[in-house]
Amino acid sequence: MNLLSNNKKMDRNIRRDKKQEKKYIKTTRTNILGAKTSFATLESYRSVRTNIMFSLPDETGCRNIVVTSAMPGDGKTTTCINLAITFGQAGKKVLVIDCDMRCPRIHLYLGSDNEAGLSNVLAGFADVDEVVRHKEGVYFITAGLIPQNPAELLSSQKMEKLIEKLSESYDYIFFDTPPLAFVADAVTFLKNISGVILIARQKYTLHHAIEAAVSALTFANAKVLGFILNDADSEEINYKKRKYGNNHYQHSYYYNNHDYYRNQRGKYR
Ligand SMILES: Nc1ncnc2c1ncn2[C@@H]1O[C@H](COP(=O)(O)OP(=O)(O)OP(=O)(O)O)[C@@H](O)[C@H]1O
Ligand SMILES: [Mg+2]
Repeated sequence: MNLLSNNKKMDRNIRRDKKQEKKYIKTTRTNILGAKTSFATLESYRSVRTNIMFSLPDETGCRNIVVTSAMPGDGKTTTCINLAITFGQAGKKVLVIDCDMRCPRIHLYLGSDNEAGLSNVLAGFADVDEVVRHKEGVYFITAGLIPQNPAELLSSQKMEKLIEKLSESYDYIFFDTPPLAFVADAVTFLKNISGVILIARQKYTLHHAIEAAVSALTFANAKVLGFILNDADSEEINYKKRKYGNNHYQHSYYYNNHDYYRNQRGKYR
């Protein structure tokens, strides 16, 4: 009798959690670029696209870009998908890979299932061609079944070979990763990539967490292409632009070369 009522309670909780998850995903999908996206938002992504294109002048062939951040919820997955869509709109062939095997989200944001993905390929259970999907003008590979050892899988030789193989077919590959404050998955496969983009969320990401993330990337010899300030309050930025009298502040804050950012940081803090 007691067991029965406990089960009923559990069922109710599961139903409530599922309902909340559905609502969360629905709101989240509105942040993925589409027909209803404002011109200002589209323009922001286009300017990031231009900056990324110009930040890799010596690269030939496919550019492999890791999108990461210091903390959970900074907007890595959203930015990763939106950047891919923006590059797709410029006629580039783009692939997004969900490397966040601990908390995979790409399949939810793009409305697909996650039955077979990256982990299945790395474990040898699926062929890469079977797991590549296409939506919103971008190709994507979901994380796949959640494995016990995501870090080992991502740093394996199989991952290296997979990136090499995929690089032959795409202009850009974006890798969505977990937050650096929790796991270092983003730095485990850095040897194969062109650069890293760090996301920081306005009024959310902690300053010392960003510093720790930058240290981790510097230690791993990563090429940090720049920072993206996500969820920025344009009113506040306009105010600061007026206050500082030129656009250095906005420029160094939004998106910039890492070394430049480091040199300028003291001036504007
Ligand atoms: N610019 C934005 N404006 C409004 N909401 C945003 C913005 N960027 C992200 N979000 C919302 O914040 C939530 C977290 O975003 P997202 O999943 O992209 O973050 P994340 O850094 O990938 O998180 P995690 O570390 O858990 O993987 C989502 O609901 C997303 O829709
Ligand atoms: Mg994410």
